[in-house]
Order: sequence, then structure tokens, then C-alpha cells
Amino acid sequence: MIETREFEGRSFLVTGGTKGIGAAVVSRLRGAGGKVFTTARSVPEDLPEPDYFMAADVGTVSGVKSVAAAALKKLGRIDGLISVVGGSSAPAGGFARLDDEAWDRELSMNLLSAVRFDRELAPAMIERGRGVIIHISSIQRKMPLHDSTLAYAAAKGALSTYSKGLSKELSPKGVRVLSVAPGFVKTEAAERLIDRLAAQSGGDREVALGKLMDSLGGIPMGRPAEPAEAAELIVFLASDRAGYLSGSEFTIDGGSVPTV
Ligand SMILES: NC(=O)c1ccc[n+]([C@@H]2O[C@H](COP(=O)([O-])OP(=O)(O)OC[C@H]3O[C@@H](n4cnc5c(N)ncnc54)[C@H](OP(=O)(O)O)[C@@H]3O)[C@@H](O)[C@H]2O)c1
Repeated sequence: MIETREFEGRSFLVTGGTKGIGAAVVSRLRGAGGKVFTTARSVPEDLPEPDYFMAADVGTVSGVKSVAAAALKKLGRIDGLISVVGGSSAPAGGFARLDDEAWDRELSMNLLSAVRFDRELAPAMIERGRGVIIHISSIQRKMPLHDSTLAYAAAKGALSTYSKGLSKELSPKGVRVLSVAPGFVKTEAAERLIDRLAAQSGGDREVALGKLMDSLGGIPMGRPAEPAEAAELIVFLASDRAGYLSGSEFTIDGGSVPTV
């Protein structure tokens, strides 16, 4: 890891910053001098910098508006917006098990939360002619796990397409827009997915994990990513070192996606 104070004087909003990839991003940005406001639904007991946190459900319109307003009030301006919140809580078992409620939830968490934060915060970035927006997608946008997380995969596909389109509009105005597509990352969400799949197939976690790895076509690197490894890519993209990068999606999957 490159240890610098490169984010001194920079301010960020990172959604979903208390666990998994988001927590690793928050810690890495703060470690390099950045001011970071974050949000999650629950308040962790050992929450660092509690003044820079608001509990909210950002799968809702009101949650996004409150968090955006609180972050702006605390930070004064936002140089980087990193939308990490996402995940799947829909039942496995194919398309017929996905009712309207499940689709609404998956789209709100994985697409609309990011869209709504951009609508709240991009205008000020455009006005300043400077900023970076990063959306966390998934390799499932090209490799949908159709039995277990179809609505999630479809929402991430929409997020990646939206990111590309937004970059066309914002890049000429000085705002870089990027997306990151992780493969299997060892986080609480991944553990919960394995638990859910195990519960639905006889209760054996090892079998469920094996099936999940197989459905990804295996991981050539032989292991899932650590959250800090995904965070390192995201933080690089947020930095001035990535100043010419916009409109691209970066995959971090240990080689899982089989196509060029
Ligand atoms: N882990 C993987 O293998 C993997 C692979 C591909 C893509 N991704 C993507 O990477 C991102 C992060 O995943 P992760 O595995 O790090 O997830 P995670 O461990 O479950 O962490 C999710 C974070 O978001 C917060 N959160 C969840 N729903 C929220 C809501 N509605 N409103 C506000 N905060 C909310 C959680 O806190 P609370 O629970 O307290 O709200 C937590 O801080 C997601 O977009 C996910 O789709 C992950």
C-alpha cells in the first residue's frame, strides 16, 4: 500500500461505510488524510469518528436526502462520492420467486440509491468543475447468478450502464464518473449469501460455498478478495493519480470473468 497524505483537504461521502468494502474504503481514505462522512442503517458499537456518520436507510428517497444534507453540512463540500451500498436479500430459486417487492428492494439498493445521491450532489461538483463519482457494481452484471441473485444482477447491470452514460455528461464538466465491479469479496454480505444458499440446500456451508465458486466458473486466484484489496482500487480511482480515468468500469475478481 502506498502511504501518503494525498487526501489531505479532500472530503468524501462513502455510503455503506461501516462494514465490508465500504469500511475498508473509509479507513483507507482517512488514513491518507481525507475527511469522510459515512452512513449505514445500524450504528456499530466501535464506530470511528461518530460525528461523521448518520444512520439512515439509503434505499429510500428520504434517507438519501437526509444523508446528503448532513454530509454537506458537516463537510462543507464533497469532492468524492463513493456509492458502496448494495447487496441482495431476495430469495433464491429463480425468476418466479421474485415478486414486485423483491424487485423494488433490489433496484432501490443497487441502482436508485446511487442515482439519487448523484442527483443530490453532482450539481455542486459541476458548479465547481471538479469531483469524482464512483459506483460499486458487480461482475454479476455480466455473469448473472440466475438462480440466486437475478434481480441484483439486473440492477447492477443497470448501474454500470447508467455510470457510463453519466460519465458522458459529466466528464466534460470536470467530474469523473467510474464504476468498479468486484467478484467474490470476503465480507459479511458474502457470508450471508452463503448462509442463505446453505439453508436452502441442506445446511452445508462448504457445499454452498463450493457451488457459489463453481457458478462463478471458479476463481483462478484460488481465493476471494479481501475488502482492503477492493478498497485499494476504489481509493486509487478517487485519487488525482487517476486523473485521466472516467467512463470506465474496473473489474477486481481474481480472474473470474472468463471473457476478454
Ligand atoms: N462482497 C462481495 O462479494 C461483492 C461482490 C460484488 C459486488 N459487491 C458490492 O460491493 C458493495 C459492498 O458490499 P459488501 O459485501 O461490502 O457489503 P456488506 O458487508 O453487507 O456492507 C454493506 C454496508 O452497507 C450498509 N447498508 C446496507 N444496506 C443499507 C441501506 N439500505 N442503507 C444504508 N446503509 C446500508 C451496511 O450497514 P447496515 O447493515 O448497518 O445498514 C454496511 O455498512 C455492494 O454494492 C455489493 O453489491 C460485493
